[in-house]
Parts: sequence; structure tokens; C-alpha cells
Amino acid sequence: MNEYDSELIRTILIKEKYEFVQDETEASIVMLNTCSVRENANEKVYNRIHRIRKGAGKKPLLIGVLGCMATNFQTKLLENSRLKIDFIAGPDSYKRLPELIQEVSKTGEKSFDTTLSEFETYSDVLPVRKDGVNAWIAVMRGCNNFCTFCVVPFTRGRERSRSPENIVEEVKKLVQEGFKQVTLLGQNVNSYRHEEHDFADLLEKVSTVSGIERIRFISPHPKDFPRKLLREIAGNPKICKHIHLPLQAGNDRVLDLMNRTYTQEEYLKVVDDIRTLDPNISITTDIIVGFPTETDEEFQDTVKVMKQVEYDSAFIFKYSPRERTLAYKKFPDDVPEEKKTERIVFLNEIQKEMSFRKNKSQVGQIQKVLVEKQQTRKSENESQGRNDAGKIVVFPAGPYRVGDFVNIKITEASANVLRGEKVEMGMERWGMEKLL
Ligand code: 5AD
Ligand code: SF4
Repeated sequence: MNEYDSELIRTILIKEKYEFVQDETEASIVMLNTCSVRENANEKVYNRIHRIRKGAGKKPLLIGVLGCMATNFQTKLLENSRLKIDFIAGPDSYKRLPELIQEVSKTGEKSFDTTLSEFETYSDVLPVRKDGVNAWIAVMRGCNNFCTFCVVPFTRGRERSRSPENIVEEVKKLVQEGFKQVTLLGQNVNSYRHEEHDFADLLEKVSTVSGIERIRFISPHPKDFPRKLLREIAGNPKICKHIHLPLQAGNDRVLDLMNRTYTQEEYLKVVDDIRTLDPNISITTDIIVGFPTETDEEFQDTVKVMKQVEYDSAFIFKYSPRERTLAYKKFPDDVPEEKKTERIVFLNEIQKEMSFRKNKSQVGQIQKVLVEKQQTRKSENESQGRNDAGKIVVFPAGPYRVGDFVNIKITEASANVLRGEKVEMGMERWGMEKLL
């Protein structure tokens, strides 16, 4: 979402004749678009600001903090005399950025706007995209779920969705620009709702745009997977066969304390429904270890679910207390740091093994890969792309362009990467004319 928001910000500022430079030492304004979801995200920003200030020396430089940290800390950030921040803007105030910059440039007074809106969806701003393969589109913003560990509902406000017509219009423009893949974004993407249209309707409508060949979406909540949506995902060839299904924890008492609104059994039922419709669909997850009061025995429930589901990959985090959240107010952060480390290491090991096993089972398959890089960072003789499930596939470089589809026969697998070779019927460039 932050990458997408940065594209929005870029567009808003370019319209006001601001110019973007590659190197931050050449800039007279530096903006950091921030995340507040865990403490280490904040720390990264503080360190970066210190480095930028040091690098600038005596040169005049305005520094702005944008996004979730701005809403989360508001005046605290501006009052911090060591950080020397000149302006801040929250996720719903990007259109005011030109004004905020003007204000601080003219008066020298720090400026800020962190108001959250119930309506701002930026549906009237068509972002300038940098990536040439995948285009992010925020279809809804905000979150109403209030998981007790999560600061997002406080930093990004309430849920609101763009109209399907407006989204489809944007997708059509993206096709004209050459994009073949879109990723629909939302803090809680499958609770998308605009008038009588739900998320399944939106997916269906987006898939009717000719020229779009892959549709991804992130990040859904397990509570919003009605059969209608699962059928749309399984049955629509343009929708990638990958579902990110954040578990967070496997134990019912912990899930209840987290306010996740599902039990272990209900979660596993969603997994079952998904696999009944398509046994090969890739499922990934987010997990938090060391939520307050989580015992060793309760942690074993997370291990059990992980092993049962056999995720394709998992993002595993240590619980990080966030001011303003219910968990922060109600429960002391009582799982010792070493225990959190032990649990995260344990889960990462299990996951690595499972990812490896899953990937190995794909050796021999022919997969359709969307080329993302003509050369990998490691070798100019290798190209890289992603398969339908979003996994990285590396293969010998050839006359491919970024955005081409290539048929690759998988020959090797590690936990993170699949490797393969182009199959003889070869590279195909599925252009629009083929689809018409
Ligand atoms: N501590 C640790 N992880 C968190 N997440 C959200 N809030 C916290 C927190 N306070 C994780 C969740 C979520 C992902 C985006 O970040 O797993 O799904
Ligand atoms: Fe945070 Fe929960 Fe909303 Fe996701 S669903 S953004 S974890 S409150």
C-alpha cells in the first residue's frame, strides 16, 4: 500500500511542477512514506532521517514524514528537536502536500495534516507507475476490524471503497500503458463493498478488461471468504491461484484476545473450502508469535495449523506492542524476547522445510511465467519472473522483454526460488491481438 501511495504522492507533486531526483543528496525536499505496524519500522525511519540530515550538512533541506507514522505520532514527531522534521501528512492528506510544503517553505513554521477521512479514496488521481509489469490499484482503504494488536485502524481510518466503474476505467488505462498484471490492494481487500457490489463482483468486472491477464489481490481477511468469492477465484482463469490467508495464531483463546473473529476450526474450514475448489492453489500467511499471555502449549496450536495447512510461504513476526491498540492498553507484553525469538526461529525452520517440499513437488511442471527482470542481480545470464502463484522463477536469459510470458519447465527448486528452462514451443508474447 505504501508503494502505491508513493506513486499517488509522486503524481500529485509532479502536477504541481515538482521534479523528482534519483539521488537524495541532490534533493531540496525529502519525504519518507512510513509504516507503523511494528516498532522496527519506526526505528528504520528515525535512523534514515538522521542519516539524511547528516548527509545534507549545512545545505537547506526540508524533511517530511508521510503515511502511518505521521498519523500515529503527529505532534510528537514535530516536537522532536533531534529529528528536525518540517512537515507531516497522514495517508488521507496527500492532496494537501503541495500546500503543506509551501507553508513551511514560506513561513519556516512546521506544517501538518493528519486528518483521517471517511471518503478519501484518491479515485480522481491516476498514479504514475514506476514498475513496468505489475500495477497496484488500491480498491479500498482503511480497516474496521480492530484486531487488538494492530495500529492500522488508527493510522488509516475507516473502510471505504472505490466504485467498480472507476476501478475498471483505471485498469483499461493500464492496459493501454502495457500492463498485463494488476494487484488489487486494500487493508482488508475482500471486505470491499460499493453499493450492491462485493469483492467477487469487482474481480469479475476487472477480469472482463481485455489485455489484463493476471489479477492478484492483497490482503484479505479469513472472515470474508463467502463461497461466491471462492468460486470466482477458482473458476476465473485471469485470477492468480494464490490466496494470502493471515492466520496470526492457531489457538482459540489467543485468536479471541486478538479479536480475529474466527476460531482455529473456522479458519481450517476456509482452507478446506479453498482446497476443495482447487487443490493446487497456493496459500500463504502472516503469523504473530508471543502475543501477550500466549503459552508454550497455545503456541503449539499455531505449529499444528502450520503443519496441517502446509503454507507455500509465511511471514512470521514477533508481537510488537503498539500504542493506542487495545492489546497495548490491556495486556503487558509478557512473553520474554528470548521466547519470541525461539518461537519465530522454530516456525521459520518448519516453514522453510515445507516451502522446499512444496516447491520440489513442482519440478517437472510447465509453468507460465511473467518476466520481471531480463537479468537477475546475481547473473546477467539469468532472467527472472513469477508464476501464477507469485513464486519467483529463474531461467536462462533469452530474447525476452520485461512483461513477456514464457513457458518454463521447472527443473530445480529451493525453499524460495524455482529454476527452469524455456520449453520448446517456446516463448510466447500474448499480446492483445491474441486475446481479442
Ligand atoms: N506486532 C507484530 N506483528 C504485527 N502485525 C500487525 N500488527 C502487528 C504487531 N503489533 C502483522 C500481522 C499482519 C501483518 C501485516 O503485520 O501479522 O497481518
Ligand atoms: Fe490490522 Fe486486523 Fe485490519 Fe489487518 S484486519 S489491517 S491486522 S486491524
